Amino acid sequence: MKSLVKKMLVVLLSIGLVFVFVGCDTANAPDPAPAETPADTPAEAPTEDPPVADRVITVGFSQIGSESDWRIGNTVSVTTALEEAGWNVIFNDANQQQHLQLQAIRDFITQGVDYIVLAPIVATGWDGIIQEIEDAGIPWVQIDRGIDMPGIENYRISWITNNFEDEGRRAGEWLIAYLEETGRMEDDINIVELQGTVGSSAAIDRQRGFAEMIAGHPNLEITQSQTGDFTTELGMVVMEAFLGAADRPIDVLFAHNDGMALGAIQAIRDAGLVPGEDIIIIGVDAVALAFEAIVAGDMNVTVECSPLLGPTVVEVIKAHMAGQPIEAEIFSSVRVFDETLSLIMPDRFLSAAEDLPNRVY
Ligand code: AHR
Repeated sequence: MKSLVKKMLVVLLSIGLVFVFVGCDTANAPDPAPAETPADTPAEAPTEDPPVADRVITVGFSQIGSESDWRIGNTVSVTTALEEAGWNVIFNDANQQQHLQLQAIRDFITQGVDYIVLAPIVATGWDGIIQEIEDAGIPWVQIDRGIDMPGIENYRISWITNNFEDEGRRAGEWLIAYLEETGRMEDDINIVELQGTVGSSAAIDRQRGFAEMIAGHPNLEITQSQTGDFTTELGMVVMEAFLGAADRPIDVLFAHNDGMALGAIQAIRDAGLVPGEDIIIIGVDAVALAFEAIVAGDMNVTVECSPLLGPTVVEVIKAHMAGQPIEAEIFSSVRVFDETLSLIMPDRFLSAAEDLPNRVY
């Protein structure tokens, strides 16, 4: 009779635990320690294995490439945080090629990693590999760019990212405020756009957010728009082409990242124009080199997109190992840095000069 009561207690405790963790993804947690019960654990049982949350695990990190300072900052942030957690890291740089990311993930599965961290280059084409990860029972964390796949949130532990659409909106918001402040809001304004990698959510969403902000102003027109693949080199080449093909003066450049903006600055100078004056230059990322360009007057503004996702990746994996609740999506905040509007509207925009010493990427 006494043992029947114990068994009922165990069942009730189990139900209680399930209730507490409803809404958390613990399905793929690596062998969490079973809840101890008086019925099946002797009081003096030796504890040879470390608690699950203290285990040394191996994490495979599939990174897009090293196309920008942002990306390098992201790689350093994630690998450093994983290593500082005391874990083994298998890192792969896919050189901006999706098929190399797919290969890297298959290698992680073969090597039997405990967790995978994936920064997907483009939004589509992941369904098959995600099923392979699922079949292998490996929990994984998505970082940075988005994936278009129905029910994706049921597969990954969490998505640690930035709000790219909001970044585009904040860039457009800054431009409108700047044109109003400089008395040009009624002028015809010709904008050229350097897009990021084709098919990446960072490019798609930044383009959408910016377009949404200028949509109500027919005198603000995007006259040319092409990809520069998020690289400084292509930013320069494509800006040269924009300048060569323009049948009207270019007033504004909206570059989907600072690296392309910095390449474009060179092209603008080579064309005999003054960057930051003849052409208003808007970037995204908030890398140190962009801050220096803003302080020097060569660039006008940058919208922050934080690559410093590593500590959150570690927190999420630790929570998963411990069977704790995890946010399905985790966003960094968006800040805008310039050296003009921030002086008169400090509640909306921040000073690049003041924040330059704090830049770590
Ligand atoms: O996905 C984030 C983007 O990728 C960054 O804005 C860009 O610099 C990087 O290459």
